[in-house]
Parts: sequence; structure tokens; C-alpha cells
Amino acid sequence: MGVLEQVKGKRVGVLAGGQSGEREVSFRSGGGVLNVLQAAAIDAVMVDPEPNLAGQLLDAGVDVVFNALHGGAGENGTIQGVLEMLGIPYSGCGVLASALTMDKPLTQAVLRDKGLPVPDHVPISPATSTAELEAAIERLGMPVVAKPACEGSSLGVTICKSEQEALEVAGELISQYGRSLFEKFTDGTEITVGVLGWHERTRSLPVLELVPHREFYDYEAKYTKGMTDLICPARISEHHAVQAQQVALKAHQVTGCHGISRCDMHLDSNGQIWIHDINSMPGLTETSDVPHEAEALGMSYQELVLEILASAFHR
Ligand SMILES: Nc1ncnc2c1ncn2[C@@H]1O[C@H](COP(=O)(O)OP(=O)(O)O)[C@@H](O)[C@H]1O
Ligand SMILES: [Mg+2]
Repeated sequence: MGVLEQVKGKRVGVLAGGQSGEREVSFRSGGGVLNVLQAAAIDAVMVDPEPNLAGQLLDAGVDVVFNALHGGAGENGTIQGVLEMLGIPYSGCGVLASALTMDKPLTQAVLRDKGLPVPDHVPISPATSTAELEAAIERLGMPVVAKPACEGSSLGVTICKSEQEALEVAGELISQYGRSLFEKFTDGTEITVGVLGWHERTRSLPVLELVPHREFYDYEAKYTKGMTDLICPARISEHHAVQAQQVALKAHQVTGCHGISRCDMHLDSNGQIWIHDINSMPGLTETSDVPHEAEALGMSYQELVLEILASAFHR
């Protein structure tokens, strides 16, 4: 049965907004999704989740959820848990994959255990002594990347050029975000690969190359029009493209993702791929990475949205 029949007579609640730092981006993703659903004559409403989410969904008569939340409770498994409790089917990743992939040190540990290529890192927290911070910096070398354990949109990510800077940044990160990490710096072509589908239908999209007009792919580069060139398919060899797609697919599978995810990587000058980040709820604005990759395959934004919605019925 196709998804249009599956949602016949049902109301779809598009969750968008939320309380994370990515609230505005989520409204853009959710707005795009809502337009597609309504244009397909699906009964759909937008819901901006509040603490009384269960009441909101019941009052709105929502039967199925399309999750378009980024960061925070919508991407870390909390809202997925509420939906599980309510017995409402929802698109995308479940509780465990969402909680895991929101946590960078834990995700890196799982990926490494499964033989996937992740840069060396050292978790840091309020309990880490200055001597331990210094030892971590020494081990990872310069420059070193400092980032919060559980953020997105490059919030709090700094490439530190000196030990002094790394120590200062670590102090600020820990006081603002708590658990954080130092990660070995990787260089090369920044690439990202979306993964779609469920069970044996799960597959990688074409590789997208990101060329930020800034030092790295930071918040400005991500959300300011024209600040990053998106090139799909990426200007890398067929061999590396296939490898990147395999890495993204395996990362999706070993972290238990469902329906959609996106794997952010570098391909360095030695031809080595490094995973930085797995996103369980990647951006779905019409200009976001995953819609761009789908388009390169000839898959329209509408087809993409409907396929993600269908993942709600195949958990
Ligand atoms: N180890 C690293 N070496 C070099 N650049 C990095 C590294 N980790 C992250 N970056 C840069 O920072 C950006 C954001 O980091 P990422 O780990 O993907 O976090 P977020 O969840 O905020 O997207 C990446 O897209 C990349 O440009
Ligand atoms: Mg990222």
C-alpha cells in the first residue's frame, strides 16, 4: 500500500519549531513539509511542541506525526518517547537512535566499535582537570577541534590553533554546554550523504560536496544563502563516492536509524574518509542538503517528503 492510501482519512501532525537553538530552521523544514502534504490533499496541521505535547496532539486529532524538529527534544529521543507512549506512528528515527546520535562521544564510540572511520577524540567535562585537558591536546595535536557533546548546526564548534586557545575554549564550552569533546582535526573535502528508507529499502543518496566560503562549515555558512556552494554529485572519484555511501549506510544501520539520517564526513588528501557527525533529523528546507541530494537522483522534494512520511508505517 502506498503512503497516500495509508494516510487516507488520517490527520498528519507536522512537528516543527520546538525549543532548541534550531527552532527557526525547523519551522522552515516543517513549512516545506506541510506545503507538500497539503498539496497532496493530505489532512495536515503544524504543531509546535510545548510541554503538554500529548494534550496538543490529542486536541488536534493527530493520527500520524511527521517529525520536522531539529536538535533538542525533537532529535534526542524525548519526543519520540512521548509518541511511543501515545501509540502515534511517527516518521524517522526512534528513541534509541535519536538519543545515541545526539551524543557525539557515544556515537563515535559505537561507530569505531563497528569499524567505521572516526577521528580520535577525548571526551571532556566539568570533571576533567587542566592536566587532563593538556594531555588530550598533546595527544590529538594542533589544530584541535572543540565541540559540545550534544548540539547541532555547528553551534559551539571551534577549530583551536594553539594550546592556549584550546584550553580557553574548553573552559567556555564546558561551562556553557557541560559534556564536550576535543577531536582530532581532519582536512580535505567536506561531504555529506543522506540515507533514506527502511529495512531492505534503506539506501544512500548521492554524495554532496560542501564548499563553505568561510574557515569551516559553521552556523553562518550553513544558514546564509550563498555562503556555501553545494555540489552534487561531489567532485570526487567514483571509488570514493561509493565508499562514502557505504560508510553512511553502515553508520545509519549500526546506530539504529530509521527512515532518514545524514552522515557528515571529510575525505582527506590521502583518500581516507572521516565521520564527524550523524544527524537523525537532517534539515528538510527546500535548499537543505538531503533535498539537494534527492534532486540529483531525480527525486522531487514532494517524493522525498512522502517517503519520509511512509517510514512512520514501517518501523
Ligand atoms: N574533526 C574535525 N576536523 C575538521 N573540521 C571539523 C571536525 N569536526 C567538525 N568539523 C567542522 O565543523 C562542522 C560541524 O561539526 P559537526 O561535528 O558536524 O557538528 P554539528 O552537529 O554541529 O553539525 C563540520 O561540518 C566541519 O566543517
Ligand atoms: Mg554536522
